[in-house]
Amino acid sequence: MNAIVHKNLGEIIDYSNIPSHVAIIMDGNGRWARKINKERFFGHNRGINSVKESIDVSIELGIETLTLFAFSMENWKRPKSEINALMTLLSSSIENELKSIIENNIKLNVIGDLDLVPKKTRDKLLNAIIKTKNNDGLNLNLAVSYGAKQELVRAIKIISHKVKKNIISEENIDEETINEHLYTENSKNVDLLIRTGGEFRVSNFLLWQISYAELNFQKVLWPDFKKYHFLNAIIDYQNRTRRFGKIHA
Ligand code: FPP
Repeated sequence: MNAIVHKNLGEIIDYSNIPSHVAIIMDGNGRWARKINKERFFGHNRGINSVKESIDVSIELGIETLTLFAFSMENWKRPKSEINALMTLLSSSIENELKSIIENNIKLNVIGDLDLVPKKTRDKLLNAIIKTKNNDGLNLNLAVSYGAKQELVRAIKIISHKVKKNIISEENIDEETINEHLYTENSKNVDLLIRTGGEFRVSNFLLWQISYAELNFQKVLWPDFKKYHFLNAIIDYQNRTRRFGKIHA
């Protein structure tokens, strides 16, 4: 999309009503590559450009938290060659972009079961988390080896253990207790969930955190997702009436 279209969309945006937390299911890399007779990995590789553009737009709009679904628990069932390629892409992207992540005051966090992630990729991710921990700009959550049901099981196990050890009393367990034991303990609930690739499902992503999110499904395949599509999702969000179960005044 050209700069004029961006400018026009930018003028429509209400800067007093920007979602605090945007989460994205980045789908369609494989299909994008197949359409041009390339290997699926070519699509993942090209998807990095859309990741960078989404981060830039988030900073520009003043979004507090951006959570990206980079690798799901279910993705471990893909062929080994694709898993290895994705893990290598993750570590090389983090390595190549770390300087720019730091310069842009981004605080990187990873949500998911890192024990399952190969050591080389895990070390790169942990290093980036440490190097950016004092930044106070965009909170960038990368979901890697992440599944929402697994996250809830983990939280329940930690809470049960704390109840057994008298650290938490059963009567005091409330929604806040659950929030505090999720990987996203430091993030607010999701306001806007975007999914590219044309599927209408949430695929075990942030099930607790999206309970009142506005959902935006787009046909565009992830490598083609540009600023134009992100701004359209924001405008769509701003046109919704969020009642949170109440009657609108
Ligand atoms: C879904 O497309 C996409 C993924 C499983 C991986 C997404 C990962 C990236 C774009 C790289 C992330 C890297 C960083 C640094 C955030 P698909 O393979 O399911 O596509 P398909 O539905 O067309 O088969």
